[in-house]
Amino acid sequence: MKIVVHIEDAQQWQNALAQAFPDAQITTSDAPPPARANADYLAVWKPSESLLREQTRLKAIINLGAGVDYLLQTPGLPDDVPVVKLRDAGMGELMADYVRYGVLHFQRSFDRYLAQQPKAHWLTHEVPDKADWPVGILGLGAIGTHVAKALSGDGFPVLGWSRSPKQIDGVSCYHGEEGLADVLRQAQTLVTLLPDTAATRGLINAERLALLPDGASLINPGRGTLLDHDALLSALGDSGHLRGALLDVFAEEPLPEFSPLWQHPKVIVTPHMSAPTPLNEAIDQVIDTLRAFEAGEPVATVNRQAGY
Ligand code: GLV
Repeated sequence: MKIVVHIEDAQQWQNALAQAFPDAQITTSDAPPPARANADYLAVWKPSESLLREQTRLKAIINLGAGVDYLLQTPGLPDDVPVVKLRDAGMGELMADYVRYGVLHFQRSFDRYLAQQPKAHWLTHEVPDKADWPVGILGLGAIGTHVAKALSGDGFPVLGWSRSPKQIDGVSCYHGEEGLADVLRQAQTLVTLLPDTAATRGLINAERLALLPDGASLINPGRGTLLDHDALLSALGDSGHLRGALLDVFAEEPLPEFSPLWQHPKVIVTPHMSAPTPLNEAIDQVIDTLRAFEAGEPVATVNRQAGY
């Protein structure tokens, strides 16, 4: 069995795989083309077109992240090879912490204190009850579900929304177009954790932002394409409809230097760092997947049509 790995820190992944599969040939993508060609499996995050085109006998591609949008959009991806993605694999808890940080930033008025500090302005703000701070979570995949349960466990009312109906303990679940409007109308903080697909691109547009309560805040650690950034800027601007936004992902990354989001006083920009794939937790899933393929057992694969 030959496995080619492509990700930052590929060496560590290579070592971990070599321990699990001592007889396998495991190579990183910085090996010369002959050594990285003709793999049985690719374990990759954002592989190059050439790495994909060099393969002739792939049995599967394992995407070392939760979102498959980059992979599915890479030219050279063979049509007939199953793609498997990581499901939670430790990213859910990292994401829950990122979202907690954002929710508390607004609920505990850190945005206001940061604005007061340069003016040496000593003024405390009332702390709203968590019970009065509904958090809307769009996207209830493995990560969205983990985040929804975590925030609900913290005492926030959580409204979750997904394309198809779901049931999650402690979370009010909504679905469909009507359900989306219901969540938006209530969410004091809106969190977007949907994948980038034809159905989600531009979902959070001016019309939908207008449904949020006055003073609502937005956290987008999902994908940059979910959100119309011009609409966000105007909702944050003169109308003052939205209080602020914490953004981790952008349609173009790195976010271009001239983007007004960098300098906006109500926006926090982070460089796509909310939930990096933790090797220790993800590696077992990768190993199980490889074993299942080798044993001819069924493996849940990505639905390329749906895009996730
Ligand atoms: C990161 O963006 C991921 O999809 O895992």
